[in-house]
Amino acid sequence: MTASDEAVSVRLGPVDQVPVGEGRAFLVGDEPVAVFRPRSGGLHALRAICPHRGGPLADGLLDDEVVMCPLHNHRFTLSSGECVSGGGVDDVAAYTARDEDGELVVSLVAP
Ligand code: FES
Repeated sequence: MTASDEAVSVRLGPVDQVPVGEGRAFLVGDEPVAVFRPRSGGLHALRAICPHRGGPLADGLLDDEVVMCPLHNHRFTLSSGECVSGGGVDDVAAYTARDEDGELVVSLVAP
């Protein structure tokens, strides 16, 4: 971990507050971040605001690789934030989320 990574890492409490198969929204500093726990395992974090028209990505439908925005169904890759549904929608920022001894830690750096 670098010094700059340390500077933007925030401990957000127990990982279990994000149910498996769902996402939850958090604030990391001033940044709204959606953390996802896909059923296949692992943790992913994306900017919580859909770049299409501001939909709440944490409330989106999740599978093992993508989240679908609840407003207009654009899909974003969990690992990179890439918009994979076309339509000229921008990608969304992807951040690093990890489980440290049962605690959720999010860093505002790309995974
Ligand atoms: S606001 Fe997310 S798809 Fe439109």
